[in-house]
Amino acid sequence: MNARHLAAGAALVAAIVTGVAVSAGDAAVPYPAGYRAWQHVKSMVIEPGHALYAAFGGIHHLYANEKAMEGYASGHFQDGAVIVFDLLETVSADHAVTEGKRKVVGVMHRDAKKYAETGGWGFEGFAGDSTTERAVGAKAASACFSCHAPQKDHEYVFSRYRP
Ligand code: HEC
Repeated sequence: MNARHLAAGAALVAAIVTGVAVSAGDAAVPYPAGYRAWQHVKSMVIEPGHALYAAFGGIHHLYANEKAMEGYASGHFQDGAVIVFDLLETVSADHAVTEGKRKVVGVMHRDAKKYAETGGWGFEGFAGDSTTERAVGAKAASACFSCHAPQKDHEYVFSRYRP
């Protein structure tokens, strides 16, 4: 992770911590209703000491809707593809790590025209268990896209699907 990644991570933390009220206009990324029933792509635990712990510490699971699954397979994500980054706290006890409270539901929503400025993806974060409290809003370019930008050859998606 380079300095730019860290700065972007810090911007995200600031956005989440201050709970900036963001107006939901036409370009607002919809809450990904029902994503827990979508395809699970992968999971990852980010522990204390990792450069991104402040922003992404905990356990996250990635979920993809059908169009996003087609995108993982073909390398091209069509409009309507949605990928969710479901981040929860971790709880360590009795030599086991389990899920704690949900921290944020991160979303990438594909619409090449609407979100042209951020690589064709609308980025949003819904705070905790809220389906309406937006943590990113107009800050998508600096808080999210700046770090995803180096993944241009993969249409700005970091993860790969493991069959
Ligand atoms: C500092 C870098 C960084 C920032 C900032 C960042 N991301 Fe990511 N994001 C990643 C990495 C790395 C992954 C891959 C995680 C994995 O493989 O489990 C990822 C994965 C994702 C995914 C799953 C699709 C993919 O690309 O693999 C979504 C959705 C996502 N991020 C949303 C967001 C949102 C929304 C924001 C802004 C609130 C954001 N990200 C900010 C680094 C970042």
